[in-house]
Amino acid sequence: MEIGKVFVMGSGTMGCGIAQVCAQSGISVVMNDISQEMLDKAVKTISWSASKFIEKGKVKDDLGTVMGRIQVSTDLDGAADADLVIEAVFEKIGVKHEALKKLDPIVGEKTIVATNTSAITITEVASVMSRPENFVGLHFFNPVPMMQAVEVIRGVATSDEAFQYGAEFVRFIGKEPIMVNRDIAGFILNRINICANVEAMRLVEQGVASPEDIDKGMRLAFGRKMGPFETGDLVWIEVSLMAYTNIYEEDKDPRFYPPSIMRQKVLAGHLGRKTGKGWYEYNEDGSRK
Ligand SMILES: NC(=O)c1ccc[n+]([C@@H]2O[C@H](COP(=O)([O-])OP(=O)(O)OC[C@H]3O[C@@H](n4cnc5c(N)ncnc54)[C@H](O)[C@@H]3O)[C@@H](O)[C@H]2O)c1
Repeated sequence: MEIGKVFVMGSGTMGCGIAQVCAQSGISVVMNDISQEMLDKAVKTISWSASKFIEKGKVKDDLGTVMGRIQVSTDLDGAADADLVIEAVFEKIGVKHEALKKLDPIVGEKTIVATNTSAITITEVASVMSRPENFVGLHFFNPVPMMQAVEVIRGVATSDEAFQYGAEFVRFIGKEPIMVNRDIAGFILNRINICANVEAMRLVEQGVASPEDIDKGMRLAFGRKMGPFETGDLVWIEVSLMAYTNIYEEDKDPRFYPPSIMRQKVLAGHLGRKTGKGWYEYNEDGSRK
């Protein structure tokens, strides 16, 4: 299995983290984005984060060596000789399809193409590719350099080779593959989590408990670092609403239907920590009021 060169499409939160863990594992990376500004920001973010890993002795190479493995580009030429392409553009099917249609004629016959989608099925994302057998889901968790689990998802057309390549790649970058044998919106871990989060919001809606008490209980009883409302404010309630809606739309399973208390937060613009208000209220420095 060749993992010499990885091409990452999209250099936002996830693309940036994926490029970092690849470079830290000795892989040459091309980070691609339509925005040069995002690429410049991504290089700064990776440099800062990788330096912390090096200081703690978790990465053996020096910063110059790690950063020397990363190239940035606003065009797709660098994908031509890549062993693996990982798509991490906006979570909108139209945007993903537009990006993949441009990529399709450029990648080699053997190149494995992966998507980091959170809530769209792999089969739907792969539907514009001329070689869907080479297409696999690689669902990383945020923040990528810290989180050890990566779901490897088999789409309807994914070959055994591409599925196994996904798992080997995940091990190669020092993470643990969680194999998802059948394509299902939300995959495994988010599906389980979202059901619990929907129930937590319904309990608040029904006046049974406050977000504070639910978060405290989930931390103290189940050893979680953060409760569902604290996490919700961190990842933006609007982003979660989109993911829940995508999963619900797939098979209309009411367990995933976003409660009205969540939809109202989004309509009111109370999106989480970055807007100063979500499930909780925040000061300008991001601390809780
Ligand atoms: N943020 C999370 O917690 C998280 C977790 C797991 C998976 N994901 C998934 O990862 C993907 C990316 O999410 P994100 O949070 O990093 O998004 P983001 O908004 O931080 O970044 C997306 C980037 O894609 C770029 N982009 C848009 N169109 C492009 C194109 N055609 N070619 C190249 N770049 C393009 C944008 O300029 C932007 O820099 C989504 O599918 C999301 O669902 C996100």
